[in-house]
Amino acid sequence: MAGEERRVKVKIDNVRRVFNTRNGEMIALNGVSLDIMENEFICVVGPSGCGKSTLLNIIAGLLEPSSGKVYCDGKEVMGTGTERGVVFQQYALFPWMTVLKNVMFGLNLKGIKGKEAEEIAMKYIKMVQLEDFVNHYPKELSGGMKQRVAIARAYAVNPEVLLMDEPFGALDAQTRTQLQTELLETWEKERKTCFFITHDVEEAIILAQKVIIMSARPGRIKEIVDINIPYPRTQETKMTPEFLELKNHIWGQVYQEYLEVRK
Ligand SMILES: Nc1ncnc2c1ncn2[C@@H]1O[C@H](COP(=O)(O)OP(=O)(O)O)[C@@H](O)[C@H]1O
Ligand SMILES: [Mg+2]
Repeated sequence: MAGEERRVKVKIDNVRRVFNTRNGEMIALNGVSLDIMENEFICVVGPSGCGKSTLLNIIAGLLEPSSGKVYCDGKEVMGTGTERGVVFQQYALFPWMTVLKNVMFGLNLKGIKGKEAEEIAMKYIKMVQLEDFVNHYPKELSGGMKQRVAIARAYAVNPEVLLMDEPFGALDAQTRTQLQTELLETWEKERKTCFFITHDVEEAIILAQKVIIMSARPGRIKEIVDINIPYPRTQETKMTPEFLELKNHIWGQVYQEYLEVRK
């Protein structure tokens, strides 16, 4: 953005990750370096098994790199931290807690309790339009509603970076579209740094300022595509020539990698 000083929020420096498997060592990631700027929305696409989740888990501090380092605000990531919130594809809600209690959970961990926690939780429950379901349990909600709770829970603790691993991947097309729109509106308001994995190229382009294309295993960054489509973006944006051109290009690159996997 013109005239704005941009700061590196998360620095990924030459990260490699090897897994020991039954069939010996398996290199999941190799030589991955990336600067995620403050307030930036990044989407990551790439064939299944190319190491997207591994990378996200390393940034989250849930997994250690075999070599290389990740920094958040210049400090080496040594584990999880409340400044980095995670949303997974599977909702990971506590089934014995109501929507309100699920969203309050992270706040309680941060030492925010009682009325204050409830007020903050309610703000984010309203943001995802679930105010009529605060006392419902997860099993009483649809998949889309459960994912909204997971998003509200991640936002409630006010992380500086949101890490999202195919959060809409399990949802039907209509619900996914709706949640994309909600996420876009929220991001345009709050401009939180977002690192968002998806296998859906359209989803990546509609959301992101930058799309990272990963190569087939061992996962490396194959290409970084700037998405210079101004916000606010809507579902109609998907019909514009510039969008379709980007989609063709990115889809072609991902497809090449998919063919590599099949070899
Ligand atoms: N804990 C683990 N142990 C062994 N292999 C793993 C583990 N986690 C991931 N892998 C392997 O690492 C590769 C990358 O996995 P993953 O990051 O989940 O890919 P993606 O999210 O892009 O589909 C895959 O081949 C997967 O089987
Ligand atoms: Mg994955």
